[in-house]
Amino acid sequence: MNYNKKSVKDIDVNGKKVLLRCDFNVPQDKATRAITDDKRIRAALPTIQYLLDNGAAVICCSHLGKPKKVENFREVLTLAPVAKRLGELLNMDVIFATDTIGEDAKAKAAALKPGQILLLENTRFDPREEKNDPEFAKELASMAEIFVSDAFGTVHRAHASTAGVAAYLPAVSGMLIQKELEIMGGALANPKRPFVAILGGAKVSDKLGVINNLLEKADTIIIGGGMAYTFKKAMGYSIGKSLLDEEKIDYCRDMMAKAKEKGVNLLLPVDNMTAPEFADVEPQYSEDGNIPDDQMGMDIGPKSIALFSEAVKDAGTVVWNGPMGVFEFDHFNKGTVAMAQALADSNAITIIGGGDSAAAAKKFGFADKITHISTGGGASLEFLEGKELPGVACLLDK
Ligand code: 3PG
Repeated sequence: MNYNKKSVKDIDVNGKKVLLRCDFNVPQDKATRAITDDKRIRAALPTIQYLLDNGAAVICCSHLGKPKKVENFREVLTLAPVAKRLGELLNMDVIFATDTIGEDAKAKAAALKPGQILLLENTRFDPREEKNDPEFAKELASMAEIFVSDAFGTVHRAHASTAGVAAYLPAVSGMLIQKELEIMGGALANPKRPFVAILGGAKVSDKLGVINNLLEKADTIIIGGGMAYTFKKAMGYSIGKSLLDEEKIDYCRDMMAKAKEKGVNLLLPVDNMTAPEFADVEPQYSEDGNIPDDQMGMDIGPKSIALFSEAVKDAGTVVWNGPMGVFEFDHFNKGTVAMAQALADSNAITIIGGGDSAAAAKKFGFADKITHISTGGGASLEFLEGKELPGVACLLDK
């Protein structure tokens, strides 16, 4: 995968109409539909501001949620609240089109002047978006002269507004994607060593591709969280009532053998904090890594924390994806907090690959001590898997 792509800074946008794909897929309160976290809108601001300051007329588009799964999606998943919030953050009028490629969108796009901004209605309101329908992509592209993709969270989707439009317009990345490509792409292609990858989260099956790909690149792989118990089972430990991906036991054995063959240091928890049920209760300690039959592993223990933190200490690059335990419960957040602390304390290039670990780093106050926290969830995972990302592959090479 070539990460060396042209960005908005490599082209002249002055006087041009620019179609800007953002990831405005923001979380909303179920009852009031109020935006509960606007970080994705804020993440788009540098590129939007750059385009406006450099004389472009900016036509933003995005999806929000999964309309095909929601009955009254036109009311529930409209981007109108995003237009309002974006206007507040930019301190200017954001024109909103009540359709995506219909009359309203086309008229407003045609009338848009340099320095003005328009947001089109949710791209997924039209089912042709997710089918990457060429006609839909062509219509969307017809409103602009340049396509700028800045929706990193959505680059793993081959949809009309993320990839299809690039067949009709010169396509470059925005600043957010550029940063993701430089830092994460750089870390994967040419990491400063030792390269330590920390993987956690519930299921081994969610991380199959990631483990496989990182075994080719990392010097040390640390595995914690729910997925570690399947590895421990594969090693012959008793894991009590802990999470188990029964079908993946052989896979874990294969990965351990592969690590050995490649000389990769694969670290697993050596002790655990446990509970008799999935609840935020006083932890019990399983000192030797064998979890009693009536207990389930909920977090890594102090010896594991010391072992993992030591491995991070002298790293050149650290990539972290997935929590070490049930960090939502105060009694079981110690392992995850300790990993965030270890990254914050290290002099390495530290990268958190989106999702729960990003949320944890923020929750526990370490976010500003991390080199880069990716804005993608699924997209970061596919990036770490080494997969081709359609929303990146479609951009012009440098
Ligand atoms: C995300 O939230 O991960 C992106 O916006 C992609 O959303 P999707 O999973 O609905 O395609």
